[in-house]
Amino acid sequence: MHYGADYNPEQWPEEVWPDDVARMREAGVTTVSLGIFAWARIQPREGEFDFAWLDRVIELLHEGGIAVDLATATASPPPWASAAYPEILPRDEDGSVYWPGSRQQFAPSSPVYRRLAGELVTAIAERYAGHPAVVLWHVNNEYGCHLHADYSDAARDAFRRWLRERYADIDALNAAWGTNFWSQRYGSFDEVFPPRKAPYSRNPGQMLDFRRFTSDMLLECFLMERDLIRAAGATQPITTNFMGAFKPADYAKWAPHLDVLSDDCYPDPNDPESFRAAAFQRDLLRSLKPDVPWLLMEQATNALNWRPANAPKAPGQMAALSAQAIGRGADGILFFQWRQSRAGAEKFHSAMLPHAGTGTRTWREVVALGADLAALPSLPAGARDARVALVFDWENWWAVEGSDHPQNQVDYLAVVQRWYRALHRRHVQVDLVTPERVGEGYDLVIAPLLYLLREEGAAALAAFVEGGGHLVTGPFTDVVDEIDRFRMGGFQTQLGGVLGLRVEDFGAMVAPDAPASEPGERFAPFSGVAGAGMGTLLAEELRVTDASVEASFTAGRRAGAPAVTVRAGAGGGGGSARYVATIPDEAGVQAVVDHVLAATGVAPVLAGLPEGVEVARRGDVLTVINHGAEPVEVPVRGTDLVSGESVGGVVLEPHDWRIVRES
Ligand code: GLA
Repeated sequence: MHYGADYNPEQWPEEVWPDDVARMREAGVTTVSLGIFAWARIQPREGEFDFAWLDRVIELLHEGGIAVDLATATASPPPWASAAYPEILPRDEDGSVYWPGSRQQFAPSSPVYRRLAGELVTAIAERYAGHPAVVLWHVNNEYGCHLHADYSDAARDAFRRWLRERYADIDALNAAWGTNFWSQRYGSFDEVFPPRKAPYSRNPGQMLDFRRFTSDMLLECFLMERDLIRAAGATQPITTNFMGAFKPADYAKWAPHLDVLSDDCYPDPNDPESFRAAAFQRDLLRSLKPDVPWLLMEQATNALNWRPANAPKAPGQMAALSAQAIGRGADGILFFQWRQSRAGAEKFHSAMLPHAGTGTRTWREVVALGADLAALPSLPAGARDARVALVFDWENWWAVEGSDHPQNQVDYLAVVQRWYRALHRRHVQVDLVTPERVGEGYDLVIAPLLYLLREEGAAALAAFVEGGGHLVTGPFTDVVDEIDRFRMGGFQTQLGGVLGLRVEDFGAMVAPDAPASEPGERFAPFSGVAGAGMGTLLAEELRVTDASVEASFTAGRRAGAPAVTVRAGAGGGGGSARYVATIPDEAGVQAVVDHVLAATGVAPVLAGLPEGVEVARRGDVLTVINHGAEPVEVPVRGTDLVSGESVGGVVLEPHDWRIVRES
């Protein structure tokens, strides 16, 4: 179990470093991420490298028995780089420049940025590839975090190259983007631009491809660095830190290229339900690369600096959220950062070693967690425990939130997380997968809002149901192909047979609290054996041909019409396919989930727990956590892997947790 933090010794005089290492040992730190923002110190001028200080830091750490996750330092180019090469600066869709003075001010597709970054990576990798302290390579940092897309001339040129590779022939692009609409037909790839600011709605195919391109440009940067590290002879695993469900980067496409995934996660202590969003993020990380334990690369020991109000963590909450990550597949708990900064934008951000020193609650909790993690034995890797898959797909996310839809207020991530929360409250273990992966041994698959459905995904979903699986999908599902065009023959052209229905109209509705100036049908309730709730945003008109109705709308223009349907899978395999014709509210999703769990017999990891208690399975290891305000008795039996004692049920105080190997 790795334990540690981002370590930024360049922010401190050298006399502080030995104290850092001594304190790290006191806290049980095993690993630090070094040099993430040190480009300006490592390369003070083009062509000149200063490694003497870094040599000394790495030696000190190594002597102290602390391993290094060595950064490539490319996330924040130094001022000399943009002064000499202003073309590396990114631009927004208006053409405004993102100037230096912060960080991440680089255009990912800029050949000059890539050359400069590449020279730095090669110099670092050649120097430290063989150093025994280096156990992991940390490429860049949070690719795309602040800069979700770049529209610079470098991006323009790279977009044209990317499109040439994708379509080969400009007429193929014209057909894909439907450019006969509004006289957008291109004569050559050199006429195409990134979707910069335009008078009105931009071409949906172009927008979607630009999203793919943006993710691919960041991935190209990662791959370039990875290849240079390997070319320098390094054999350690290579990672870059993800940010959970981060819209600009299609991590499902990235994950195969990383040796080990790592993630940064900052749940808001002001939100009493943020632990469920954090659980979602952990499950996503595990699902993206199921056979390799991931690392929690960054979290905060206490308060942040970047929310409007930065609440402290409650006593014990930091350890509880760490246990959550371990229970959901992590083999390392690291923080941003080791020693709280004295200067700079993040000086109020908490750290392992607070500015107020070691007489603080934060420090005591840091030391206690270090001791607990050190006591843990190795945990099962690659356990596939979930019986339920929740479909989460980046390309669909981009497309479903495109413009000019029947309903333009759909928040895909929020809807998927609503379904996740309902399963989490019932202590059901969930994987988060693309539709192509639903055949990996699940009993129940839930696929909300699968607007863009690739042929392979549709085939996998259909085969899943025919093979005896239970599917829940809808609304606004199976509507377009992978370039955001309608498929010929109406909607649900791929899943209509499995579902026994087609959608004829999407039926947008207006929120009940919308101002009177927004007239129109308000949200419509539904009820039936599938449960009751409020249908929001969409109330689709279905043509049901071969399914039974499990709930109907009870008011509004669809009163009496089907809201939830079910069709038994063909072939006598015992499977089923449900369709939900609206976006149910929180209570509605919970009701439908409860109905589906009962109907399909999917069991919780542990029965009878209150909603504020979380349980996760990792092979034969159960992690139980009390996020609630009252003590709870949890019937978990086996060996407590921290204390080594055998337990026959435990009482968990608020924010208390146990990691138990089942007997
Ligand atoms: C991100 C970055 C870190 C730091 C933290 C602060 O995760 O990677 O460098 O800025 O945010 O929360």
